[in-house]
Amino acid sequence: MDRDDLLATNIKITQDVCANIMQHSPEAIIMTVTNPLDVVTYAAMRCTNLERKKVFGMSGLLDSSRFAYFIAKEINCSVRDINAMVLGGHGDSMIPLPEYTTVSGIPLNEIMEKDTIDRVVKRTVNAGAEIVGYLKTGSAFCAPSAAIASMTEAILKDTKRIVPASVYLSGEYGLDDVCLGVPVKMGRNGAEEIIELRLTEEQTRELHKSAETVRSGISKI
Ligand code: 2OP
Repeated sequence: MDRDDLLATNIKITQDVCANIMQHSPEAIIMTVTNPLDVVTYAAMRCTNLERKKVFGMSGLLDSSRFAYFIAKEINCSVRDINAMVLGGHGDSMIPLPEYTTVSGIPLNEIMEKDTIDRVVKRTVNAGAEIVGYLKTGSAFCAPSAAIASMTEAILKDTKRIVPASVYLSGEYGLDDVCLGVPVKMGRNGAEEIIELRLTEEQTRELHKSAETVRSGISKI
């Protein structure tokens, strides 16, 4: 199954879980981790009617951790020194951003050849499927768990970390009524602030294309 095949099954589960959350824990902050991630996040927003900072999806942090790992492997350095950014939907239309990725503060473009960057970007986009290929009957769980723990920690400790996550957009990046991965500030109130990066025309086009993919999923629900 690819992420979209999971749509019908997982939307039903989302509706059920959200109804229970609203009944038993209406003050909850909801982090979705279910594919198709951005569509499920949108569904959770609609099912709960909570304000958008309280409903978001864990996606970009996982994708950017993979991007960081592949970069670290290529240049043989510690993954801890890499600060990577991935925008867009959690799927084939995600957009790893080398321009907003640094190695100990050094822009990626300065220490890596364009061809290598392109290869690493491609591997990042396919990394979820790569793991499914290895596991055969399951999908990734270690890196997703680590990303969930990091985002939860940012909320519980109110650290205001800025990480990419799927949130409901309302005009940001020229997009409306869709959930998509963008950088957000995480604190005790959830996804407290959306950070708008300055994107090139091509990146904006890609982001809008990614939004269209998510919208086509939303239209099915
Ligand atoms: C992942 O990226 C399959 O979305 C899942 O690992």
